[in-house]
Amino acid sequence: MSENNIKAVIFDLDGVIVFTDKFHYQAWKQMADEIGIYFDEEINNRLRGVGRMESLEIILEKYDGEPLTDECKKILAAKKNDIYRGLLYGMGPEDVTEEVRDTLAELRNRGYKLSIGSSSKNAKLILRQVRLMDAFDTISDGTNISNSKPDPEVFVKAAEYLGMDCHDCLVVEDAWAGIDAAKAGHMLAAGIGDAKDYSETDYPLKRFSDLLNICK
Ligand code: BG6
Ligand code: MG
Repeated sequence: MSENNIKAVIFDLDGVIVFTDKFHYQAWKQMADEIGIYFDEEINNRLRGVGRMESLEIILEKYDGEPLTDECKKILAAKKNDIYRGLLYGMGPEDVTEEVRDTLAELRNRGYKLSIGSSSKNAKLILRQVRLMDAFDTISDGTNISNSKPDPEVFVKAAEYLGMDCHDCLVVEDAWAGIDAAKAGHMLAAGIGDAKDYSETDYPLKRFSDLLNICK
């Protein structure tokens, strides 16, 4: 293995392995339009890495009607999720690049343990759709956590499921909140996309396969 301590790699899903931003946007937009709240791509960018109910609260910053009950918020989030899942069912293996598939396979080949660490409750559905369930040793997602990123819970759980010490894990993230979560969990953090230039990122990735230069 490499000169660092890394023995396991924990991957965020949305924005790292697959690109579901456009589906989140479409689904939130449809929900927001129905109740007359302004929503645009800039607001959508703020939802990256953030849990579903926390995302709804950000969207509701533009709402100036009577305060909504928790029950009503749950209905709105469920409506968005129904639309979102409908879009996810249209995904397939072609939605994951060869680069991502080959890099995951090579990391395993080199002896690294691999996990998903995603805030999404739809992570397993996405992985099934793109046929990547078998690429990971374990999955930690929105169904096994109570605190959303930047809380480290989802990554700490992933390390626990893998039987690894947090200090031996590298997290791969596209969201600043995810990098903060990795650091709070005492893990190393590789940043791709938006997270590449974040000051807290230990390893900026120009492309996904750059991981093979870190995990040798
Ligand atoms: C994260 C996405 O992976 O999952 C967020 O980056 C999303 O945008 C969050 O809000 C929760 O997803 P879901 O599928 O449980 O609504
Ligand atoms: Mg992400």
